[in-house]
Amino acid sequence: MPGVWHDDGFAPTRATATVAAVPVVHLDPVHLATTSDRYSGAGHPMRAVTRSIAFEGTWDDDRSTLVQGIFDDLAPDWTATRDGPGRALPLLDALDRGGVAGGTAIDLGSGTGLVSGHLQEHFDRVVEVDLSFEMLRHAIADSPRVNADAARLPLPTGVADALVLMNMFLFPVEVARCLAPSGAIVWVNSRAEDTPIHLSADEVLESLTTAGTGDWSGVASRAGEGSWCVLRRC
Ligand SMILES: C[S@@+](CC[C@H](N)C(=O)[O-])C[C@H]1O[C@@H](n2cnc3c(N)ncnc32)[C@H](O)[C@@H]1O
Repeated sequence: MPGVWHDDGFAPTRATATVAAVPVVHLDPVHLATTSDRYSGAGHPMRAVTRSIAFEGTWDDDRSTLVQGIFDDLAPDWTATRDGPGRALPLLDALDRGGVAGGTAIDLGSGTGLVSGHLQEHFDRVVEVDLSFEMLRHAIADSPRVNADAARLPLPTGVADALVLMNMFLFPVEVARCLAPSGAIVWVNSRAEDTPIHLSADEVLESLTTAGTGDWSGVASRAGEGSWCVLRRC
């Protein structure tokens, strides 16, 4: 034991070492993790937009209109070109091993609601929210739909027990505002790093923290072609 001798005896030194907190625990996969054989989204223009929203808060009416137009155009073919076996696997793994179920889930940036049916099996209420009216018009599930911008959601503070973001931009302040105090952010990239709109689990946490939304921790892993993390307030 470290310490020093005084006239009246040995005085142990007060321990100064601290145990580093591990905000994101990376779990080993329980489902086979594979690599997408489609294009890599690393150099896709949406990747730069994703990062600038998450870390610089760059979002204005012009960008909102531009993004809305891009996804309006993609909407008619979205389900046919994106839906497929195994695409929901990372989400289901996140809900399972992240311990997320019950209450109200908001599928933020829901697109045509490809995972909405799965969410309905895990939550009491599911609401799809998307900027693109055309995506919502082509929705395949029967959840309530809200056409809104995730940068300024028409939702009460703390309303969501889970905010599900699958291949969606992260607006950290608004996400934190709408999430219940014990709620969970479920972040999923269906093709992991190959997804154009992608952040790693550590980057999601960094974005939330640097935006001043408090401290977060959680778990992350991979399943199939995708990756996920579930974060809650510490
Ligand atoms: C890559 S798609 C993913 C759709 C769906 N989550 C999926 O995985 O199939 C991104 C979706 O986010 C929506 N989106 C983009 N920016 C948004 C914003 N600021 N507010 C709400 N939705 C937004 C788009 O319209 C689009 O439907």
